[in-house]
Formats: sequence, C-alpha cells, structure tokens
Amino acid sequence: MPEQVIAVHRRAGAGTSRRFGSYLSLRDFEDAARRLLPKMLYGYVNGAVETRASMLEAEAVYGEFALIPNQLVDVSCRDQSRTLLGNRYASPFGVSPLGGAAIVAYDGDKVLAQAARVANVPMILSASSLTKLEDIHREYPGAWFQAYLPGDDLRIRAMLGRVAAAGFETLVVTADTPVPGNRENNVRSGFSMPLRITPKVALDSALHPRWFLGTVARTFLRSGVPHFENMDATQGPPMLSQNLVRNMDHRDRLSWQHVALIRDVWKGKLIIKGLLSRHDVAKARDVGADGIIASNHGGRQLDYAISPIRVLPELRAEAKSMAVMMDGGIRRGTDVVKALALGADFVFVGRPFLYAAAIGGADGVLHAMALLRDELDRNMALLGLRQLEEITSGIVRHVKGSPHA
Ligand SMILES: Cc1cc2nc3c(=O)[nH]c(=O)nc-3n(C[C@H](O)[C@H](O)[C@H](O)COP(=O)(O)O)c2cc1C
Repeated sequence: MPEQVIAVHRRAGAGTSRRFGSYLSLRDFEDAARRLLPKMLYGYVNGAVETRASMLEAEAVYGEFALIPNQLVDVSCRDQSRTLLGNRYASPFGVSPLGGAAIVAYDGDKVLAQAARVANVPMILSASSLTKLEDIHREYPGAWFQAYLPGDDLRIRAMLGRVAAAGFETLVVTADTPVPGNRENNVRSGFSMPLRITPKVALDSALHPRWFLGTVARTFLRSGVPHFENMDATQGPPMLSQNLVRNMDHRDRLSWQHVALIRDVWKGKLIIKGLLSRHDVAKARDVGADGIIASNHGGRQLDYAISPIRVLPELRAEAKSMAVMMDGGIRRGTDVVKALALGADFVFVGRPFLYAAAIGGADGVLHAMALLRDELDRNMALLGLRQLEEITSGIVRHVKGSPHA
C-alpha cells in the first residue's frame, strides 16, 4: 500500500472528524469551495450547459419521492456493503469521473483515489485527468478508468492496450460526449481547458491566493506543468497553453460498432456511461457490456436531458442481468435509498467529492464519504432496513407531478 494511503488510513476517524467537525453534510463542502476557488474554477465545477435545467432538475427530482418506513424491526445489525461486478464494496456509492480534478484540488486525482481506497468504494479516473493513469492504478489498484474514445479503431486499440497494461480491470466508456456541451458560463468567466492566462484569469487567480499557492504553485514546483495524460495512448497537451486545444476529434464518429470492437478487445469489465434510453440499454446488453451508468453528465452535455432517476425503472427492466448504476444530484443518504429503490444497484457522486478534495485533500473526501455512509446507515435504521437487498420499490412513493404516478 503506498505510504500516502497508509497515512490517510491512520488519520481517518477521530482526528479527521475534529478537523472537519463543522462539515455536517455534503453541501457544506460546496459552500466552502465557493469561497476557496477562483470564480472561473468554481463555475467550471458547479456549472452546467445553457439554461442549467438538466442539472437543476437532476438535484431537485429527489424531492418528488417520499419514503415509507417499516417500524418495529430489529435493525441493530445494519449492513450497507454491496457486491458490484464481483467486488465487495463498503457502501453502494463511488466517485464519478471528474476531469481537471488536479487543478481544482492539489493532487486531485490521487487524493480521490486514496480516499476511495481507504473507504473501500470505487473511484473512476477521468480521461480528462492530469495524472498518469499508471500512477493512479498504483495508488488504488481497484480504481476504474473512464475513456473518451474517438471513432477510430487504431486509436481505440492503442488506448485500450495502455489501460490494460497498467492493470485496470474495469473500463467505463462515456457515451454522451460526441461534441462538448455548450458551457456558456466558462466562456463568460474566461475558463478553458487548456487554460489560457488572460488578465481576467490572472486577476481571478490572484484574488484566491490560498488556492493559487496551495494548488497551482505547489503543483508546478513539485511536478512542473500538468498535462492531459490520459486522453489517448500518448501524452496530451499541457494544462496551460495559449493556443493548444485538446484532441477531441473523431469523438462524434464513435458508434455502437466501435463499442462492439471495444468489447472484443477489452477483456475486463465494460461499463457504458451516459445512457438514458432503454433502447441504448438494450444495445449495451446486446454488445456484451457488464453494466451501464445512467447519467446526464451532471447537466453538462445536453440541456433538458432527462434526470436519470426518472428513467431508472425502465432501464432496470431492460438491463436484465447487467449492473445498473446512476449518477447525478446525489447529495444525501436518502437520495441513495431512492435511487436503489427505483432500480439502481449502485450510485456515483461527482461534484461534492471534488469540493471535499479542494477543501481537505484525501481527508476531506474521506470525511464526505463518511457523512454519506452515516446518513445512509441512519436512514436504513429509520426505514426498518438491515440490508440493501431489503430496499424495494415499495418504500418510495412518487408524490408530485410524476409521469409514472
Ligand atoms: C468538474 C467535472 C468534470 C467532469 N468530468 C467528467 C469526465 O471527464 N468524464 C465523464 O464521463 N464525466 C465527467 N463529469 C460528469 C460526472 O462524471 C458525473 O456524471 C456528474 O458530475 C454527476 O453529477 P453530480 O456532480 O451531480 O454528482 C464531470 C463532472 C464535473 C462536475
């Protein structure tokens, strides 16, 4: 086990709880991150496309479902562990892929991996990350890798070869990004990837010295200019650049035919992320995928894309024996319960864990994970549930404006 992970392990528990004692829910990390990060960077994480309808709805939709508890059940031995794709995890949630994490939080990709390893939950490394995938695999051999693949057989084969050689066992192919989403907020704030240093960007950074010194200066002094390391089989462009653009060409050619090729070449578990239609779930099943992640990319791709939770029951029915995972707007233990009741085997959480990494590194993420775990544990007790398998559709009722009501 790498030394840093052992250190996180040792600090977990009482010491960490004292340091983060004022962080009582995942939202508390978001409020603190808003103060810590430059406006453009907070906007990059917090933002969504166009009207933001897709993101706002994905969070608000949980409010439409009410819970129905069973009382007077002996719930003294509760267990929230779950087996997913042959691995036993301590809780039914993990870390969504988060591009650019290492510019938001110091060593962001690593600290997310360290915390996930200590908490024994999955962490998905993003293709848009700034840390070599080989290093993350060493940090957490159980981490998954998410690829943004072009519709180009040669580049697909080369990339899968690299990911397999590093030792990853689970590959996530993101399907909802044929083109970048229309993120007007980034244009307005001057944020881009790679980052161009304009006077506006420089001023925004200078006004947030704790982030600038603790993340940017520290990264540059210790390891030089970060690069997009994992877009392709070879290293991508540097994070800071006046004129380079990331290589996103041919992503709009990626089709189910390529997924069939990927299935053929990739010997490990294969997950397709970003599906919302039952027809696509049927295609994923036909092609031999092991699971899907229902997701609207946190509202960052197609505006008005439906909230995953609304289509979960039909996706579950279509998936048959495939694993059904989802992400988007999970902020509370009750959100996890609702997602599981509506058909998910597992959920992923994006922004809150990234805010926690920015505020407190691996210890912060571990605290955020402990908050969610404790909420889920308490909710299980209050619902009369001892195991996740006892969560059924009978414990949720749609109470407001549902197309399924
Ligand atoms: C800053 C940021 C970067 C992201 N980068 C990626 C990425 O590289 N690949 C990907 O598949 N999804 C990416 N996503 C989407 C997340 O994986 C996830 O679907 C979404 O954030 C879940 O919603 P939540 O943030 O409400 O939990 C990103 C999201 C954010 C906020």
